[in-house]
Parts: sequence; structure tokens; C-alpha cells
Amino acid sequence: MIFGKRIRLRAIERSDLPFFVNWLNDPQVREGLSIFLPLSNYGEERWFEMTMQTPAEEHPLIIEVKKDNQWIAIGDISLRNLDWRNRSAELGILIGEKCYWDQGYGTEALNLFLLHCFETLNLRRIFLQVFEDNPRAIHVYQKCGFVQEGILREAVYYKGKYLNVIVMAILKADWKLRGDVLF
Ligand SMILES: CC(C)(COP(=O)(O)OP(=O)(O)OC[C@H]1O[C@@H](n2cnc3c(N)ncnc32)[C@H](O)[C@@H]1OP(=O)(O)O)[C@@H](O)C(=O)NCCC(=O)NCCS
Repeated sequence: MIFGKRIRLRAIERSDLPFFVNWLNDPQVREGLSIFLPLSNYGEERWFEMTMQTPAEEHPLIIEVKKDNQWIAIGDISLRNLDWRNRSAELGILIGEKCYWDQGYGTEALNLFLLHCFETLNLRRIFLQVFEDNPRAIHVYQKCGFVQEGILREAVYYKGKYLNVIVMAILKADWKLRGDVLF
């Protein structure tokens, strides 16, 4: 497990799948995600089986917070498109329990996960894609040191219109400069 100040990141278990079904069927939660069909338990089971075939570094980590002396799962954070030669990977984050939004947990999870990416996995570049109409996520990414690298124009069709997708990234060197501010 990876422990932060108020959260911990732990390996995903099959028993977490009902959380994902709830989180990802919540229209407000999935607004910033490329998921547009209702999700079933079976679909999540299949996703889990496929995900477990990927390298262990790409397995999602569950974000948990401590409440009344118990750890509660509120979301997940993960890498995909790991490229060891270029030491780069794409990041995704979800706080699925929306009653925990805007309390700093997303920021804390991201900072803790970046430490894992740069110091444990020895990656060099972490990038992500975010819809232009997701100001909360964009704000959190900027707060954690991600900078905009480009725009994929009208790359996503959502609720009857095309949205730009913003590509953001952080390099290990940029992250190091931020240093002890974070921990
Ligand atoms: C995006 C997400 C990970 C952020 O997690 P979180 O725990 O709510 O984030 P935090 O509480 O750490 O920070 C939220 C920040 O956004 C700010 N914010 C909230 N709504 C905002 C808005 N409409 N515009 C700009 N900033 C906003 C908050 O004030 C806070 O900033 P501050 O700490 O400087 O005051 C989470 O909301 C989420 O999972 N959303 C659904 C899935 C998603 O969109 N994932 C990202 C896909 S790219």
C-alpha cells in the first residue's frame, strides 16, 4: 500500500467491482469520462479480467480515505499506455464518490501517485487527456504541476456537440523542482 496524509492507494480486488458499477453509472461522475453506455456487473467483470492481463504497473489503485477508523474506497487512479523505452505513461483518475469532491482528495491522490510514478517506477513523463468542459479536473491537474501541451480539436462527441480534448503532461524534472512543497 502507498500511504499519504489522509488517503492510501491499494491494489484493486475483484470485490471492488460493485463500486465501479455504482461510480460509473452516475451521470455526474462520468461526465468527464469517455464512457457513454450504462455499465453492468458483467461488463465490469470482463474489464477486470482484461485489466489483470496488462502489466502490474497498469493495474488501477483504489483510493481510500479513513472515516471513523475504517478505510472507505472513493475512487481509483491508474496508468495506461506505459512506454518503458521512453519512460512515459498516461494517467487517469476518478473520485467516484462525489460527496468527497472538492475536499482535496483528488489533489492528494494525484500528488501521491506522481511520487509513485517518478520515484518508484522511474517514469519520466506522465501525460493525460481532459475534456475542455471539465474545469475541476483541469484545475487539479494544474495545481499538481501539469501543463497544457496541446489540443485535440473537437475530438469527442458528447451531449450533442463536439468537445476539444486538452493534452497535459508533467515531466519528472518539473515535478522535482516543486520538491518539498508537496510533502
Ligand atoms: C476531477 C476529480 C478527480 C477532482 O477530484 P477532487 O477530489 O474533487 O479534487 P480536489 O478537491 O483535490 O480539488 C478540486 C479543485 O477544483 C476546484 N473546482 C471545483 N469546481 C471547479 C470549477 N467548476 N472550476 C474551477 N475549479 C473548480 C476546487 O475549488 C478545488 O480547487 P482548490 O483546492 O484550489 O480550491 C474528481 O472531481 C473526479 O473524479 N471527477 C469525475 C471524473 C473525472 O472527471 N475525472 C477526470 C477525467 S480527465
